[in-house]
Amino acid sequence: MQRAVPLLAASLLLLAAAATFPVARGHNITKILAQHPEFSTFNHYLSATHLANEINRRLTITVLAVDNAGMSDLLAKHLSLLTLRNVLSLHILSDYYSSRKLHQLSRGSTISSSVFQSSGHAPGTTGYINITDHRRGKVTFITEDAGGAPPAVLVKSLKEIPYNISILQISTILSSPEAEAPVAAPAPVNLTVLLAKKGCKAFADLLLASPDVLQIFEDNLDVGLTVFCPSDGAVRAFGPKYKNLTVDGKASLLLYHGVPAYYSPQLLKTNNGFFTTLATTSRNKNFHYTVRTDGDAITVKTRVVTATITSTILDQDPDAVYAINKVLQPRELFKIPEVVEADAPAPASKKSKHAAAGPEESPADEEASDNSALSLSAAGRWLTAAMAATLAAAVIVVV
Ligand SMILES: *[C@@H]1O[C@H](CO)[C@@H](O)[C@H](O)[C@H]1NC(C)=O
Ligand SMILES: *[C@@H]1O[C@H](CO)[C@@H](O)[C@H](O)[C@H]1NC(C)=O
Ligand SMILES: *[C@@H]1O[C@H](CO)[C@@H](O)[C@H](O)[C@H]1NC(C)=O
Ligand SMILES: *[C@@H]1O[C@H](CO)[C@@H](O)[C@H](O)[C@H]1NC(C)=O
Ligand SMILES: *[C@@H]1O[C@H](CO)[C@@H](O)[C@H](O)[C@H]1NC(C)=O
Repeated sequence: MQRAVPLLAASLLLLAAAATFPVARGHNITKILAQHPEFSTFNHYLSATHLANEINRRLTITVLAVDNAGMSDLLAKHLSLLTLRNVLSLHILSDYYSSRKLHQLSRGSTISSSVFQSSGHAPGTTGYINITDHRRGKVTFITEDAGGAPPAVLVKSLKEIPYNISILQISTILSSPEAEAPVAAPAPVNLTVLLAKKGCKAFADLLLASPDVLQIFEDNLDVGLTVFCPSDGAVRAFGPKYKNLTVDGKASLLLYHGVPAYYSPQLLKTNNGFFTTLATTSRNKNFHYTVRTDGDAITVKTRVVTATITSTILDQDPDAVYAINKVLQPRELFKIPEVVEADAPAPASKKSKHAAAGPEESPADEEASDNSALSLSAAGRWLTAAMAATLAAAVIVVV
């Protein structure tokens, strides 16, 4: 147990570091394994369990792959997809091990944490993998709870991109009774019922009054959705402004509160930056905001308002729902408040105002900066935009 503490700390650090780069930059596990047909089953299940995503968004990672024969032994156990996810997540190590590094382990062995270990599903020290470099170049992998099962043996290296990703073939699936334990399927989320129960009834009612919009939220529940729901008080205060919007404007405003990807609280904290929403059109990257960690608080900042997350209503991969204290107003629909610039030397030019707006602004900000009033064409495209977003989310999850 003693050694688990620094290891845990190290793996949390790694996790945080990895989460800072959520977008695939460079590696795509699905694509790499596609070049090795004898790993097609393993590859298929990485996608089916959404672990491919997890691998692509991390840096400094090692994947222990088993070939189709090895996978058929695992599949013969008829585990559910959720359980398979746990078993396969044991095979993703939160560190970069080239085969060369494994043959040079100091003191002959090391303990690595796996994605299973950091998933929150692994009790105690399960999810840690003991890697041992034996004499004559044999390297073995065994879980901490293997219970007498023989270790898996390193067969060969499939791909190494130092120090981002290493894919190694091992002889068999790692055995772990804990990872193979049945996982209870989470109850399906009924979004409007959940929102109504947790202090967002007014927002839920707005969604129920816009069935097309609600459908888009619901379609995303399966593939990845983060919802920022304004409290009942915030929606009430916003009532007159909402009523003033056109039908398309209302739809865009509601869709603006959904992000077509799953952001756990941890990911939100570490992914400060630019978020596109269900209302974003693929062409313009409009209807976006930035999420920032501000001390203990997390804020969602549009050009018009800054809302603060007040609680986590749901965190159940692939969905998260957060309560916020204000309605998010996109600058595509509302005026950007005038900023009073103290000591402004001369009438501030538009350009300098933008420069002052901060580094988080995207190029799209420049192009659409005068577009603070309702843009009918932008709002009118909300449906296609949301569908594109849904598709994009689906693609991200499927790979
Ligand atoms: C590894 O990842 C970093 C950060 O995303 C990237 O800049 C670099 O090009 C990658 N290295 C290789 C060899 O692909
Ligand atoms: C990864 O590669 C697969 C197969 O080539 C491709 O379908 C998918 O779009 C890629 N994913 C990303 C995020 O680039
Ligand atoms: C890993 O397992 C081997 C063989 O059981 C053992 O000798 C070694 O001490 C373990 N390594 C660590 C770092 O616990
Ligand atoms: C959510 O629950 C409400 C009320 O029970 C029901 O009318 C609605 O059909 C449910 N929605 C889904 C998507 O199951
Ligand atoms: C509604 O729109 C009108 C006309 O654009 C504007 O004068 C009024 O201030 C708006 N009301 C609210 C509450 O935003």
